[in-house]
Amino acid sequence: MVDLQLRELTHAFGTEITGLDPAAALHDPAVQRELQRLFDSRGVLVFRDIDIDQNQQADIIRMLIGLGPLAPGESPIGKADGESFYVSNKEANGGAPFGRLLFHADMMWSEHTFRVLSLYGIAVEQPATPTIFTSATHAWATMPDDLRAEAGGLSAVQGHEEMSRAAEDPDVLVSTFHDLPTRTTPVGLTHPRTGDTVLYVSQQMTQAIDSLPADESEALLLRLFDHLYRDEVLYSHDWREHDLVAWDNIAVQHARPNVALEGPTRTLRKVFAPVPPKSAKPTRPTFATAG
Ligand SMILES: [Fe+2]
Repeated sequence: MVDLQLRELTHAFGTEITGLDPAAALHDPAVQRELQRLFDSRGVLVFRDIDIDQNQQADIIRMLIGLGPLAPGESPIGKADGESFYVSNKEANGGAPFGRLLFHADMMWSEHTFRVLSLYGIAVEQPATPTIFTSATHAWATMPDDLRAEAGGLSAVQGHEEMSRAAEDPDVLVSTFHDLPTRTTPVGLTHPRTGDTVLYVSQQMTQAIDSLPADESEALLLRLFDHLYRDEVLYSHDWREHDLVAWDNIAVQHARPNVALEGPTRTLRKVFAPVPPKSAKPTRPTFATAG
């Protein structure tokens, strides 16, 4: 019998877990099975007050999707040994250092998209900008019948980034990449591990519905976004230090309100799995805001 303290974050997805001993997550098969079951059924797991280093963070999230621990000396993020990746408004070379982020799943444009993504609170001053989540699996399951019938057989072109949807908000972060491919995927994507159907379009990365004229494509996407991002289905995570949030990057999308460079420190350590091959990784983008 595994005794974890659980709390549902929304009725549809997300579970908070307190009192977890990282050693149990790393070594106890019964705890691991329970965490894997929760991850697949709930999409987002929030661990509070967990003290872990980068490699432990990697091994825990790898375990959630059935991958074994890192090999000795293997980088959890595909960089030189000992390097970390921070989403931060203070660290040099921090990712997404400022601005608001529209909803997306990382690397939707790549077959090597992360299957699990995680952030860990390293340095968090209050009030810290939250990370906001929505379940694209729940969105598919609850789509109005007429919308599902209309969108179900269609495909979408995923790329980076569709900034026309940010035009009215000068805070939105624009990350400019120079070497990104696009990928066409079913609007109702079958999740490779759970078999669930995922509404696989996002505000930030879906460029168009394949096969529709531009105006019809955008109109249909906006209706899908209205359903995916309606307020009552969102979970907003308020960061504290020593929070680990791990989520299914195919089933769940994330976003955030504005982060200011001069605002409270917000440094989150980002670890993902599996690590994409070098050839699939974009170079570092340049950052600006839409305004
Ligand atoms: Fe992201």
